[in-house]
Amino acid sequence: MESEEREKAGKQPSDLTDWFWRWTQQQKDYNLNELDIAQLLAANTFGASFNTTVVLVQCLCELATRPKYISLIRQEVIGVLRANNDTWTKEGIDSMKVLDSFIKESHRYNCFDHAGTPRVVKQDFRFKNGLHIPKGTVLMTPNAPMLFDEEYVKDPFEFDGLRFYELANNSRTPEMLRYTSTNPHYLQFGDGKHVW
Ligand code: HEM
Repeated sequence: MESEEREKAGKQPSDLTDWFWRWTQQQKDYNLNELDIAQLLAANTFGASFNTTVVLVQCLCELATRPKYISLIRQEVIGVLRANNDTWTKEGIDSMKVLDSFIKESHRYNCFDHAGTPRVVKQDFRFKNGLHIPKGTVLMTPNAPMLFDEEYVKDPFEFDGLRFYELANNSRTPEMLRYTSTNPHYLQFGDGKHVW
């Protein structure tokens, strides 16, 4: 298997199959094989295409019902493309801050994981306030309630496509307000060691 050969040659994983192969080798207790890797790849492809499609469709619906954003976003995209010889580059896309803000607001407003980060507690745990969680409990976090909580989001029931653009402009850590950034009050991409 190519992933195995690459690992033996001391090379870094070059794609998801390599990463999954490396991970299966680390799970000594489970004797995982190529079929498990194929299943992981299929599950990943499903998750990746489902989430991105839902977000994209919601953005298009928001744009259709809020056409004032169309020219703003179009202007930004055209400007960036012109500056990059009419070529799409990662840096160019990263610099589309209005677009990024609109996507983030659309996903906030149409949040589809109302409860997120499902986890199974592996050992009895007691929080500092005395709350006891027994081993085996399934826990989820209140994703949507936080996205509509005035403590974290100003006028949460208003759709504001420039909300995160403006917040970022007034922040010393604007990168924390980009679409794919996470923090304990914004769990749209989950939380925990894999996210960090
Ligand atoms: C807008 C698009 C996406 C959204 C909203 C999204 C959201 C999520 C969420 C909520 C989780 C659970 C995290 C947790 O429980 O802490 C997750 C996990 C995951 N996502 Fe996505 N995702 C998106 C796109 C993608 C794409 C494009 C890929 C791969 C190409 C991907 C790969 C994964 C993988 C591998 C995991 C499992 C991570 C782990 O086990 O810790 N996702 N995603």
